[in-house]
Amino acid sequence: MDKMWSGRFSAGAANLLDQFNASIMFDKKLYREDIEGSLAHAQMLAKQGILTAEELKQISDGLNQVTDEIESGKFEWKISDEDLHMGIEKRLTALIGDAGKKLHTARSRNDQIAVDFRRYVLRKNLEIVHALKLLMSEILITANKHTQTLIPGMTHLQHAQPINFAFHLGAYLSMFKRDIERFESSYERNNISPLGCAALAGTPHNIDRDMTAELLGFSGVSVNCLDTVSDRDFALEILFNISTMMMHISRLSEELVMWSSYEFKFIELSDEYSTGSSIMPQKKNPDVPELLRGKTGRVYGSLMGLLTVMKALPLAYNKDTQEDKEGVFDAVETAEISLKILKEAIKTMEVKTQNMNSACKVGHLSATDLADYLVQKCNIPFREAHFITGKAVAKSEELKIDLSDIELKYLQEIDSRIGSDVLEFLSIKNSMNARNSAGGTSTKRTEEQLEYFKNFIAKT
Ligand code: ARG
Repeated sequence: MDKMWSGRFSAGAANLLDQFNASIMFDKKLYREDIEGSLAHAQMLAKQGILTAEELKQISDGLNQVTDEIESGKFEWKISDEDLHMGIEKRLTALIGDAGKKLHTARSRNDQIAVDFRRYVLRKNLEIVHALKLLMSEILITANKHTQTLIPGMTHLQHAQPINFAFHLGAYLSMFKRDIERFESSYERNNISPLGCAALAGTPHNIDRDMTAELLGFSGVSVNCLDTVSDRDFALEILFNISTMMMHISRLSEELVMWSSYEFKFIELSDEYSTGSSIMPQKKNPDVPELLRGKTGRVYGSLMGLLTVMKALPLAYNKDTQEDKEGVFDAVETAEISLKILKEAIKTMEVKTQNMNSACKVGHLSATDLADYLVQKCNIPFREAHFITGKAVAKSEELKIDLSDIELKYLQEIDSRIGSDVLEFLSIKNSMNARNSAGGTSTKRTEEQLEYFKNFIAKT
């Protein structure tokens, strides 16, 4: 009968219940947030005259000692204590006596966990932003070297139009920038303190919620206590933000896997970030991007899991909510290691510029340029120009050459209005640089884009 809530019970909890009910084995990860929350709460209670200065000192000293015990591995986390809140409070009371029993005045575990978990999630939003910026910087380093490296731009995974490799990487920089903005906006929206909401309805004690909010670094206090103790939107948001970020990482990973194949040979991942086969001695496998792709599915699982936990909960707190933490911890840790390893894989990979360039000589990538030439120089309506170009492509296929290498005479046989100035339109490099409209792939426009991302990363 050593439970903190045992007053109304006449029989002790079954061991099986303890195992089922406890969250202490995973919520102990929040010990810093929990102790900082308790310190702020105690300071506020003392300022309001609810605790004496002496009691505050005992509580602060006691909590500092608990922190030391946890950090030196001496603290005993016991399943029978149920969760970290009760484990810590029990130890505090064992250390300092009666003052420890006053700490929970005007507080409930419901607002306590809401504070702890929210602060963890807020901090992780910012840490992930930082890691995303490091990844973006690394991509920028590679991109800056390849604003002239031609690579086939694709639709339907078929060669479409020539672009440069930096422009291709710039697409991912755009995605990661949006990811950063999502994490930042979640941080702003959710940066409000639940402390003082108590169980669900507030408290009759004369507390100062603004003070604890300020001490804990929140920008304000929540408006409605009933909502606050049952709200887990902040956790869903980080799961969604991580899921979207991982979806972007997964798309890039898919391309890295493809590009590493013999069929593409656009890149080679470094030995340090590749693996071998237990049976086939020649193999060098791109396990890193494959795992990144796979872990994306696991993160989506956590998002769907928590959405499902939350979907039918009546107000306010329900124990179901305890299921919010493990999925978030797992998704955050997955995001952190994924960002780090992707950055290293990109930093150490070899870009096979030559292979990228020569891949652009397959698939008649400058066909649209021939059509554009016919429109611009010969005043032919686009639909007709499209048809004439189709004939030129068919001729190239017959000659087993790429359209960019076709001789002028064949083009003029198809349409006598074509002049010798057409050849520069057909060059792959010119084709890439011709797309000079805002946001386009020309080297000039790509450089502008890289500059834009560089400035974005630099601003804090
Ligand atoms: N361990 C609980 C959780 O994570 C803390 C809140 C418990 N509140 C309660 N009324 N039983 O959700």
